[in-house]
Amino acid sequence: MRRSEKGNPLDLRAWLEEARKLGEVQDVRGADWNLELGAISELNVKKESPPALLFDEIKGYPRGFRVLTCSTSSPGKLSSILRLGAEKSHHGLVQKLRGKPKEWQADAPNHDPAPVEKGPVFENIKGDGKVDLDIFPSPFWHEKDGGRYIGTGCCVVTKDFDSDWVNVGTYRVQVHDRKTVGLDMVPGKHGAIQYDKTMKAGKPFPVAIVCGADPLGYLISGIEVPFGMCEYNYIGAILKEPVAVVKGQVTGLPFPAASEIVLEGWAHPGDVRTEGPFGEFHGYYPGKASKAPAVTIERIYYRNDPIMVGSPPAKPPNDYSYSKAVMRSALLFDALEAAGVPDVHAVWAHEIGGARMFNVVAIKQRYAGHAKQAGHILNQCGVAAYMSRYSVVVDEDIDPSNLQEVMWAVATRTDPVTDIDIIQRGMGSKNDPMFVAYPYKAPFSSKAIIDACRPFDHLHEFPEVAEASKELQEKVRKKWTDLF
Ligand SMILES: Cc1cc2nc3c(=O)[nH]c(=O)nc-3n(C[C@H](O)[C@H](O)[C@H](O)COP(=O)(O)O)c2cc1C
Repeated sequence: MRRSEKGNPLDLRAWLEEARKLGEVQDVRGADWNLELGAISELNVKKESPPALLFDEIKGYPRGFRVLTCSTSSPGKLSSILRLGAEKSHHGLVQKLRGKPKEWQADAPNHDPAPVEKGPVFENIKGDGKVDLDIFPSPFWHEKDGGRYIGTGCCVVTKDFDSDWVNVGTYRVQVHDRKTVGLDMVPGKHGAIQYDKTMKAGKPFPVAIVCGADPLGYLISGIEVPFGMCEYNYIGAILKEPVAVVKGQVTGLPFPAASEIVLEGWAHPGDVRTEGPFGEFHGYYPGKASKAPAVTIERIYYRNDPIMVGSPPAKPPNDYSYSKAVMRSALLFDALEAAGVPDVHAVWAHEIGGARMFNVVAIKQRYAGHAKQAGHILNQCGVAAYMSRYSVVVDEDIDPSNLQEVMWAVATRTDPVTDIDIIQRGMGSKNDPMFVAYPYKAPFSSKAIIDACRPFDHLHEFPEVAEASKELQEKVRKKWTDLF
């Protein structure tokens, strides 16, 4: 049952049952946490419609200590996670999602999380010298990683230093030793901003890490929910009921009552340790391991037979590139409209760019400058700015999710000297593979906006497309059914 008396505890097992009914869960027994879980998941996700993988009897671990991967990697699973019904087609899911992020964001303030006293997450509690992270089968995902990662498909709960704002972000979590983890929060991410404020004040920073819950949790904590908004509210708006949360005994931070595994503790001022390297969403290991906050875990909470949710990035397509593409495309669409760009037909954040580095918008051009306006906002709006290397604008006859069509427009409708704008010193990342070649002392990056629309001042004389008309295609398809 998903519903509880007082809100929704984000029970992974309830969602798994639903995914099983859809025929989208495959059980895997006997795999090794050391590289096999990662490689199996990576190969799985390259299939046409990959099932979720539930690993049990992991080498060296007792039966029941499980890991789930590929939970968001198909339209069927993603639509069920988003409570949009079992929508098995990609197109159907995108249609159903249209306009939803805008609605959810507007409705979020009405869905504060509901505190509850009890929950299955409290079935096992370890503290006072009994904290031992080695009881969990944290995978060593990729060959060149710097260590084992307990947090990938996770939700990191933190609190602002000088307000009540609780943030929930997905940041990777490396196991340093039995009671310490490393937290990689990129500068500018909300958790990083809260951490910096707390460190400046010289105080310990409270952290609760949810390493398994209904995948709706990490789906939403992994996208750009507005600054100052708690992701639990956003999730509540999707569920149309509050998230039922219990309070951590050490920090008081709230986490879903049916969480599978929660690690709770403090990042102390000055305690930063080497973290990474780690295979990244864009398909590379970033240059080097670097320093990141260490969190000393004082309590661990877990359900009987706990399920860790893993979501390992890698060269796309990867575990979460599909869900990121779908979610970020919908968010970008809303952001363009909110910024006043008219006649946006469709947006697509391509998996090849990890749904960040190569984004395309299709518009119906209405006035001179419309395309550049759309391109710059697609590149610089809050949802996009981080690592937005290429933003392409195409006319409405081009499907922005079809790379063949997009690149045809780039090849045939641009005059590079006027149609490519470069933004210098934009928001980049130390994780950018190009960072090694950049001359900057901070993570800047340049960006290209490509206007691949027909030139607005020559619309009427622009050559016609040499392709059978839609009507002719339709007629031929009907007549020659054996061929098509
Ligand atoms: C599986 C997964 C892993 C991620 N790992 C990281 C990470 O290690 N560090 C990071 O800063 N962002 C990471 N992200 C992206 C952030 O979760 C995302 O930017 C989110 O908006 C951050 O939350 P915030 O906006 O509240 O800061 C990851 C996302 C996903 C889905």
